Amino acid sequence: MLRPLSTDDVEALFAYRSRPDVCRYVPFEPMTRKVIKERLATQWANTELTDEGQALTLGIEVAGTGQLVGDVVLFWHSREHRGGEIGYVVHPDFSGHGYATEAAHGLLRLGFDQLGLHRVVARIDERNEPSAKVARRLGMRQEARLVHNELFKGEWSTELDFAILRDEFLRSAPGAAS
Ligand SMILES: CC(C)(COP(=O)(O)OP(=O)(O)OC[C@H]1O[C@@H](n2cnc3c(N)ncnc32)[C@H](O)[C@@H]1OP(=O)(O)O)[C@@H](O)C(=O)NCCC(=O)NCCS
Repeated sequence: MLRPLSTDDVEALFAYRSRPDVCRYVPFEPMTRKVIKERLATQWANTELTDEGQALTLGIEVAGTGQLVGDVVLFWHSREHRGGEIGYVVHPDFSGHGYATEAAHGLLRLGFDQLGLHRVVARIDERNEPSAKVARRLGMRQEARLVHNELFKGEWSTELDFAILRDEFLRSAPGAAS
C-alpha cells in the first residue's frame, strides 16, 4: 500500500535511511532522526502534486502487517513536456519481495493516470544493479549510459537513464485508464 508519511514513521524511516549501504547510490547521506523529522515537517508533508517542480513522497506499507518497509518519490519536472521521474528505497531486510517494483508501478500509474504525464524517467548509477533491475521489471527502457558524468560522493558515477512513455505503460498495464 502506498500512503503519505507521518510523524509516527520516524523510527521505521530511520531504520533504513540511516544506513550507509542504503544511501550509497542515492543523493542523500545517512539520515539522523533530526533530519527525518525535518523532512516529515517539510517536503514529505506534501500530499499532492499541483505544479511542476514539486515532488510527492509516499511510504510503502505492507498490507496485513502495517509495516513501513520503504518509500517512493514522484517528481513532476515539467508541465509543458509532461515529464516526471521516480525514485525508490526499500529497507534491506524487506528486499527481494518485489515491494519496490510494485510500489513504483503504483507510482507510475499515479503519474500517467492522475497527473497525465507523458514520460517518466529513472536515473540510476550503473553499479546499482538492484535498482536497474527494478526499472527493467517496470518495463522502462534504457536510453542512455552517461559515462562518468557526475562526481558522486567522491567517485565518478556512470549514469543509466531509463524511461517509459504513457502509451507504453498503458499497453503493459491492463486496467489502467486509457
Ligand atoms: C533499489 C532497491 C529498492 C531494490 O530492491 P529489491 O528488493 O531488489 O526490489 P524489489 O522490492 O522490487 O524486489 C525485487 C526482487 O524480489 C523478487 N521478488 C519476489 N517476489 C516478487 C514479486 N511478487 N514481484 C516482483 N519481484 C519479486 C524479484 O525476483 C527480485 O529479486 P532478484 O533481484 O533477486 O531477481 C533496493 O536495493 C534499495 O532500496 N536500494 C537502496 C536505495 C537505492 O539505491 N534506490 C534506488 C536509487 S536509483
